[in-house]
Amino acid sequence: MKLLVTGGCGFIGSNFIRFVLRNHPDWKIVNLDKLTYAGNLKNLEGIEANERYKFVRGDIADRALVDKLFSQEKFNAVVNFAAESHVDRSILDPSPFVETNIKGTQILLEAARKYPVERFVQVSTDEVYGSLGETGFFTEESPLRPNSPYAASKAAADLLCRAYHKAYGIPVIITRSSNNYGPYQFPEKLIPLMIRNALIGKELPVYGEGKQVRDWLYVEDNCQAIDLVLQKGRVGEIYNIGGGCEKRNIEVVEMICDILERLVPDTVALYGSPRTRIRFIKDPRGAAHDFRYALDCSKIASDLGWRPKVCFEEGLEKTVKWYLENQDWVESVITGEYLTYYERVYGGR
Ligand code: NAD
Ligand code: TYD
Repeated sequence: MKLLVTGGCGFIGSNFIRFVLRNHPDWKIVNLDKLTYAGNLKNLEGIEANERYKFVRGDIADRALVDKLFSQEKFNAVVNFAAESHVDRSILDPSPFVETNIKGTQILLEAARKYPVERFVQVSTDEVYGSLGETGFFTEESPLRPNSPYAASKAAADLLCRAYHKAYGIPVIITRSSNNYGPYQFPEKLIPLMIRNALIGKELPVYGEGKQVRDWLYVEDNCQAIDLVLQKGRVGEIYNIGGGCEKRNIEVVEMICDILERLVPDTVALYGSPRTRIRFIKDPRGAAHDFRYALDCSKIASDLGWRPKVCFEEGLEKTVKWYLENQDWVESVITGEYLTYYERVYGGR
């Protein structure tokens, strides 16, 4: 197996590369990543020396580069993680989301048309379905009703994948997962942002009243599901991948505070209890803020026998410990760009 992984220097992609190299001793991986603010070579430290791994810096929306790579490498399969992935950034500026998530995916599909592969896994999201009320679940048949520019760009990519499968027989499979968390997540997302702010004595900014619900999936569980889909999923199908663990945002933030109170009493003594620094701020997402996501995952359970293994309490504790042990990593991925972004979303709220 020679696998093209795109976006392998990001959060889920880097966890997936480690997972594959560990679990498939005869597979080779080429990682194509543009190294945007969210991509970091440090996420794969220790892997560079592996002779089954190769890194190529480049843009999935660069047609000439992608064409050359496919012609040279003769991939068996593609897993497309590369994307602009943050909702708040998409509200500030949708353009890079259209460029990478839509155009980039189309360029990869076009390359797979010219240089056939056995599998093309498109890593998508539950956000394409839009928002739920207090009850109900999205199935793979639910209509696409994206509300943010991010979700719209992912939905557009999913539709291109569907069309390339129907029109040209490209062996596409789409995964739609719920919110991932775990090691190497960039500290703009809820969980790592709250951990970092708590550790450095900053306020913990909760959008609105913090009542929105997300279904949390430990990243390792998602990697296992994507690996299964890659090997055994049915071509042309969509698979929902959920953690089966719904929590309101405020519950998640309070759980993080409680874990830190227990694990780092010295920090708590220095800055005071992190719970006292929770701030409910004016919601920067407005009407684009989806209230609830929840997935019906019976298809992947019955077809492929997949179920998540890590419960939220265990996964969150592991994640907080990882961030405690890797504070250097966190500070090294934060640049001036992050500070500007932070000011634009949170400043004055
Ligand atoms: P991330 O933002 O951490 O990483 C994205 C990676 O893609 C980075 O390494 C970045 O450098 C790279 N990239 C961006 N634009 C590129 C381009 N034009 N060409 C090549 N590389 C490029 O994202 P993530 O959280 O790891 O998400 C990975 C995928 O999973 C995305 O497609 C996302 O939509 C999807 N997803 C994420 C979640 C989640 O909770 N994080 C949930 C469901 C689906
Ligand atoms: P996020 O981690 O950005 O994931 P997504 O928007 O893809 O679900 O946000 C998770 C939830 O947390 C979402 O409802 C928005 C909320 N949130 C906050 O309340 N404060 C924050 O600082 C961030 C980043 C998110």
